[in-house]
Amino acid sequence: MFSSGKNWFVMRTYQTLIVCVLIGQIACDQDRRIPRDFMLGSGLSSYQYEGAWNEDGRGPSFWDAELHNPKPKDFVIDNSNADLAADGYHLYKEDIQLVKDMGLDSLRFSFSWPRILPTGYANKINQAGIDYYNDFIDELLKYNITPIATMYQMDMPAKLLEYGSWTNPAVVDFFLDYVKILYDNFGDRVKLWITINEPFIYCYYSYSNIGFPPFLDLSGVGDYICMKNMLIANARAYRLYHKHYRKQQGGQVGLILLNNWHEPLTNSTDDVEAADDSNKFMNEMFLHAIFSEVGGYPKIVKQKIDAKSAEQGFPRSRLPPLSESEIKMIKGTADFVGLNSYFTSYVYRNRSVDDLHHVPSMLNDVYIGFDVDPAALDASYRFKSVPDSAYKLLMNIKESYNNPPIYITENGYTTQGGLDDDDRVEYINDFLNAVLDAREGGCDVRGYNVWSFIDLFEWKYGYVNKYGLYEVDFSSPNRTRTARKSAHYYKNIATTRTISKKVKEIK
Ligand code: FCB
Repeated sequence: MFSSGKNWFVMRTYQTLIVCVLIGQIACDQDRRIPRDFMLGSGLSSYQYEGAWNEDGRGPSFWDAELHNPKPKDFVIDNSNADLAADGYHLYKEDIQLVKDMGLDSLRFSFSWPRILPTGYANKINQAGIDYYNDFIDELLKYNITPIATMYQMDMPAKLLEYGSWTNPAVVDFFLDYVKILYDNFGDRVKLWITINEPFIYCYYSYSNIGFPPFLDLSGVGDYICMKNMLIANARAYRLYHKHYRKQQGGQVGLILLNNWHEPLTNSTDDVEAADDSNKFMNEMFLHAIFSEVGGYPKIVKQKIDAKSAEQGFPRSRLPPLSESEIKMIKGTADFVGLNSYFTSYVYRNRSVDDLHHVPSMLNDVYIGFDVDPAALDASYRFKSVPDSAYKLLMNIKESYNNPPIYITENGYTTQGGLDDDDRVEYINDFLNAVLDAREGGCDVRGYNVWSFIDLFEWKYGYVNKYGLYEVDFSSPNRTRTARKSAHYYKNIATTRTISKKVKEIK
């Protein structure tokens, strides 16, 4: 009954031709193959996913410390926390089965630092935490799904909050103790490591009191100290691996940057300069320090912060300096870039910018205004998502930083619920096409991961914002998962390894 390989091919070509004639040539021309070595996946993170906040020896995380104490109502907009979240601690096997059924190549997840080191100190390792991640990783490998393992995704032992969290260099040492435990326990199976998720934006949000613990208002000072410490933490974690583990384990270590592309609001010289400056400032601080020939902070970042600090009467720059040996130590410390990218911002620059931001602050230093403040975006993450900006973003990295390997580690679309998420389908389709365009343009982009596989606790947006390919019913005790349209759509892409340039109806 089955035709031989050659006959089958002739038949398929013939069928395709007939279908093309029937549905119109254009539709057929717009189908594209996804190269076999391009990884398609999705993602989760520990605090957002696991729940089980006090089970099996997990210590409190800094989120527990913050959210278990009374806070103003809008601290998290629905006043929720992730004590139970999506109950991934108990349901991971079912979820990984769904990942497998979708035909995905990779799943990105993060380790909960307080599940591994409940007190924050490395003299007491929680074996149940190690067991959980061993099982999680083994379950992925059983189905041939590549684990992309993040060490730090906004989830830290509460104890370290008392040290001031990432503004204290001592926390870098505690981080390194934890990193070593991860390499020792999981490095035989994890081959793609991420040190830190979104260091720039994490520091900005945490120390400008926008969205992450320690919720401190140290704007324009604490955020830069945090960034320097994270540059060093990443570099030390990378160097530790390459010195002691790389040879036997053969993996790679990278970090994840949140890069949203900035476009000028108008074509005035000021706005064009504003867009250029903000791309360099907000997207390239870490890229420059790690991947450029000269290393260190981008020139524009140093110039602007130094000048503003002087103007504001600070006796020295608010940007902590990097010594020659630190610059050297940081250079080259990523085998690949993980990129999280969600939307395009339109920026402008005129005198009104003076009144827009806290002084001092990172945004006042860059000296730009947004047509919509990104920190206020919720459902409007959809706002002006210009998919070809993903192409520009990727090609800019290719050109400016010698074409490093890139994985899109997060990209997704928020809704407020419902299974018919046509907007998300369209968004993923457009974005992934732009990524594949960049690959065809010579950019070494190797994979794409939708954020998120299922609905999660979305930080300050609680359970209001939903990114999942699968819906989670947070009101049911068993946290029922239901496939959205986008889940079927993405499955179709993953299993056929084909994507259409325009969204097509799938059966
Ligand atoms: C990213 C975070 C991720 C998720 C998405 C929506 O910045 O890394 O945990 O919350 O935003």
